[in-house]
Amino acid sequence: MLFDNHGRQLRYLRLGVTERCNLRCFYCMPEEGLPWSNKKQLLSYEEMLRLVGILAKMGISKVRITGGEPFVRKDLMPFMADLSQIEGIEKLSITTNGTAPTRHIEALKAMGIHAVNLSLDTLNKERFHKITRRDEFDQVINFYQSLIDAGIRTKINTVVMEEHNLEDILPLVELTQKDPVNVRFIEEMPFNGGSKGYQKIDWNYKKILQLIAEKHPTIQKLDDHASSTSYNYQIPGARGSFGVIPAYSRSICGTCDRIRLTPKGDLMTCLYQNEGFSFRDFMRQGASDQDIQEKFMHFFKRRAKNGFEAEEQKSQSNTFESMATIGG
Ligand code: GTP
Ligand code: 5AD
Ligand code: SF4
Repeated sequence: MLFDNHGRQLRYLRLGVTERCNLRCFYCMPEEGLPWSNKKQLLSYEEMLRLVGILAKMGISKVRITGGEPFVRKDLMPFMADLSQIEGIEKLSITTNGTAPTRHIEALKAMGIHAVNLSLDTLNKERFHKITRRDEFDQVINFYQSLIDAGIRTKINTVVMEEHNLEDILPLVELTQKDPVNVRFIEEMPFNGGSKGYQKIDWNYKKILQLIAEKHPTIQKLDDHASSTSYNYQIPGARGSFGVIPAYSRSICGTCDRIRLTPKGDLMTCLYQNEGFSFRDFMRQGASDQDIQEKFMHFFKRRAKNGFEAEEQKSQSNTFESMATIGG
């Protein structure tokens, strides 16, 4: 088992495979996109497989593929199939915006995908366009329905934004009465790639829960798994559940079991902290598996206690980072 310097077990790697995305959610990146890396600057699939293999030996058992939009990267499916074969990786999941062709869903099922998290901020076509600056609402809804039909464990991620989707909160909660889905409302974070100024959130998790409880006073608290990012609830009798992710309030750091590798191969031991160390360069300079393992351990034993400490320790502000470069 792998532990950090605060006694938290590390189990979960979030692996960003690309910074690119075919949508332009304004809370994530500007209209013109981000200064994308070229292919050589990104970890190759071989390099990713090597790093995951080493981490699996160290005790990581869950991998989530993120982006950007992971399906934008070529040959994602064969790569994921290879990942799913790595000894020690028990759960392989993906976070996607759901614009990819639904034929991939069968392939995900065939490789034994553990869960798919779908980023969807609204159930309204016009609002979707305003938020994502693209017109792919119908594809995303179709993707969602296909996931449910395929019986794949599905979560919806919804970033809550004062002027954009408050009217979607209750319909999304009520979707869980019909479908076996876990809808999670996320506090907006400052990582928007310089897309807009960031104002301290108005909609924190308590306020979101209050709004829901006013309409559904009988909601019941569910047991969350130990390192859950969300506090989860259920409407009595519903097929699914809903939750809130205090991404900005950071009240979940005490049990955080997550590390991240960015698409360029930088290690992040907290969403709010880039260690500024390139495993890509380290590998390309000829580091052995042993060297890599020791280097990972070095950083795992220096993790910040929580997201606030991580933010304080940072040498420079990452306000202009995007969730797409961080890997979500
Ligand atoms: P599960 O594996 O299903 O629990 O998913 P997840 O919540 O870890 O992953 P997902 O990609 O669905 O991420 C949803 C959101 O959770 C992210 O966009 C972040 O807002 C938030 N989140 C995930 N990990 C962290 C973290 O370590 N710190 C903070 N503050 N927020 C996080
Ligand atoms: N604040 C909160 N969540 C964000 N995401 C992207 N950018 C932000 C932000 N600035 C979410 C996406 C996706 C998840 C991985 O991160 O909606 O579901
Ligand atoms: Fe793309 Fe996700 Fe960023 Fe939206 S939040 S632009 S879907 S990477």
